[in-house]
Amino acid sequence: MKCILALLLLAGSAANAQQQRLLTSLIQRMTLDEKIGQLNLLTSDMDVTGPFMKENYKQDILSGACGAIFNAYTPQYTRMLQDMAMKTRLKIPLLFGYDVIHGHKTIFPIPLGEACTWDLPLMEKTARIAAEEASADGLHWTYSPMVDIARDPRWGRVAEGVGEDTWLGEQIARVKVRGYQGNDLAATNTILACVKHFALYGAIEAGRDYNTVDMSRRQMYQYYLPPYKAAVEAGAATAMTSFNEVDGIPATGNRWLLTELLRKEWGFKGFVVTDYTSINEMIPHGIVKNEYEAAELALKAGVDMDMQGSVYATQLKKLVTDKKIPVKLIDDAVYRVLEAKYKLGLFQDPYRYCDTQRAASVNMRPEHLQVARETAQRSVVLLKNEGQVLPLKQSVKVALIGPLGDSQRDMIGNWSAAGDYKKSVTLLQGLKEAGITVTYAQGAQVTSDAQLMGKLGLQVGDEDAMLKEALDVVRGRGADVVVMALGESQGMSGEAASRSDIGIPASQKRLLEAVLQTGKPVVLTLFNGRPLTLEWENAHVPAILVTWFGGTQAGHAIADVLLGKFNPSGKLTMTFPRNVGQIPIYYNRKNTGRPLDANNKYTSKYLDVANDPLFPFGFGLSYTTFEYGPLQLSANTMAMNGSLRASITVTNTGGYDGYETVQLYLRDVTASVNRPLQELRGFKKIFLKKGEKQEVRFEITAADLKFYDRNMRYVAEPGEFRLQAGPNSRDVQEVKFELKP
Ligand code: NOJ
Repeated sequence: MKCILALLLLAGSAANAQQQRLLTSLIQRMTLDEKIGQLNLLTSDMDVTGPFMKENYKQDILSGACGAIFNAYTPQYTRMLQDMAMKTRLKIPLLFGYDVIHGHKTIFPIPLGEACTWDLPLMEKTARIAAEEASADGLHWTYSPMVDIARDPRWGRVAEGVGEDTWLGEQIARVKVRGYQGNDLAATNTILACVKHFALYGAIEAGRDYNTVDMSRRQMYQYYLPPYKAAVEAGAATAMTSFNEVDGIPATGNRWLLTELLRKEWGFKGFVVTDYTSINEMIPHGIVKNEYEAAELALKAGVDMDMQGSVYATQLKKLVTDKKIPVKLIDDAVYRVLEAKYKLGLFQDPYRYCDTQRAASVNMRPEHLQVARETAQRSVVLLKNEGQVLPLKQSVKVALIGPLGDSQRDMIGNWSAAGDYKKSVTLLQGLKEAGITVTYAQGAQVTSDAQLMGKLGLQVGDEDAMLKEALDVVRGRGADVVVMALGESQGMSGEAASRSDIGIPASQKRLLEAVLQTGKPVVLTLFNGRPLTLEWENAHVPAILVTWFGGTQAGHAIADVLLGKFNPSGKLTMTFPRNVGQIPIYYNRKNTGRPLDANNKYTSKYLDVANDPLFPFGFGLSYTTFEYGPLQLSANTMAMNGSLRASITVTNTGGYDGYETVQLYLRDVTASVNRPLQELRGFKKIFLKKGEKQEVRFEITAADLKFYDRNMRYVAEPGEFRLQAGPNSRDVQEVKFELKP
């Protein structure tokens, strides 16, 4: 065994040496222009993902002035562009990147929805499938995972992330990188991952996209940085800078962030790309006067590749001539870019990802669709089910009402990459194919805000006529239950889609009120890219399900849940506030010096709303019920190098088999810096048949108790701790133990 390992290491270091020789000699042969070309990433016109296009990008490829392209896919199209690169003097292959965020052709639920499955192997599998499909379609590189921790649901991009929790964010970051990259980047079915947006983008002020971030180092290290670090440790081949500033300096020009922290402290070995024109954006940020200064700052900070800004292309040469930057800096960046191309095997065969036959056989395979359906089922979160309205019986007659009931485009959500919405399944189709008698009426527009409709590209319709038609359907045709399909359209979350009011738009609320007045039982099926404010709905509607944007198979998956073919098991990974005034709101809050006391005016609270959210982090119901026995500890003290076992028995006491996600939280009661009331430290997802019970165990060591202390050392401090376990962050039992010095 030892011998084989030694041989492998030897072979590995020989391969490394060969790669180094080859790339170094290639760089020696390159002109300065050719080198700068490798650092220039341009978008093709196949897709638009930003405010700015460069018309003559093909000319740039032909002249060797562009080393990578994004927003271009299909074997034919990428081959055509690669052909151009092969006409350049050194024939350096192009790298093709794209936002494969939640699937390529087969679209899975939006990342926030997928996170609610709490199913790490499944999340790895969806990344693997995305990589299989994307690589078959000519792509080498995805701009994923997005691991920005976010506590403000006004920000539309919470849809792309995994929610508010750092610890869960770390686990997901790791499996996503593994899923995309596999064990071997040279395999033709793996692609480069790109951890983004480095860093802190999720903490923009007021949830307004591209806004300012201001944060203490402690907050950064403790809550916001760990998921990026986890992705780096998992081997993420690339990283993308964020648009925001970090401690007064835009991330793209922030040497502390990109070089001291990312490269030196964390040992990141890949290349750093900007987000779109973020080098140029340092001018309006007010940190440089012009593009010349911007290019200098970015390169010196540690940015290797300029996405779409053309600043490196136009400024670097002059900066070298003016002796502002040494060529060595450019060489290092070029080396990292070429290394990625080398690892993908592009120097051996630049066309190895352009296989039309593979694309045809891999994309949207039945097995992929099956995984998409399972993931969408598991992402559904049941918020309320009063009077057991759900599940519906197979014989039920359904009135399906709402603008999202039969909208294929909305099912695949935003950032649905190359997904073909015409192949997505709506709830109407899903119910019909399940053999349910269903009549559909749109009932309302997603919004009647004409300005917003314009921005979303929606047509204005006659709302009164729509409402009348819907009420006729509800009243007139013997419907037993009304399934309302309401929420946001896909364009209402994602990039550049911040909202200051995160409720269901007024047009749909009017429809919901009118339908409720008919007295028919109502199931509210929500489509949403963010937590919504649902106080009114929660007070008036008996059953509420959050289905996010479930992807290609959304309609089948939701029908499976409504009909009880799949017992809902999703749990929220982001808090649902009662109203916008509570934001930012998150479960791992601190106690403050004046914790809430309802009978004491001078304590931390509002006059007009409770402190607690409407639905807490980790919350989600099932058709069955789970009873939690007492939380027990193997001992009530733990040594620094010891461990403790926490155990709790969970029994399925209801009428259905089902999954439960048992959650473990920790509180450090007194420490050198104040610590939150609870922090997720573990979870176990179990399946229990009705009547069945299982003991769930968690092993705790000092590593779980660590935090950044008063001197920013990552340590566990002796003293009292509390462990909490339960079905969500609110309904927990607590036990104490002491960590001995
Ligand atoms: C801007 C977005 O912020 C980023 O997430 C994305 O990867 C790039 N555009 C490329 O489309």
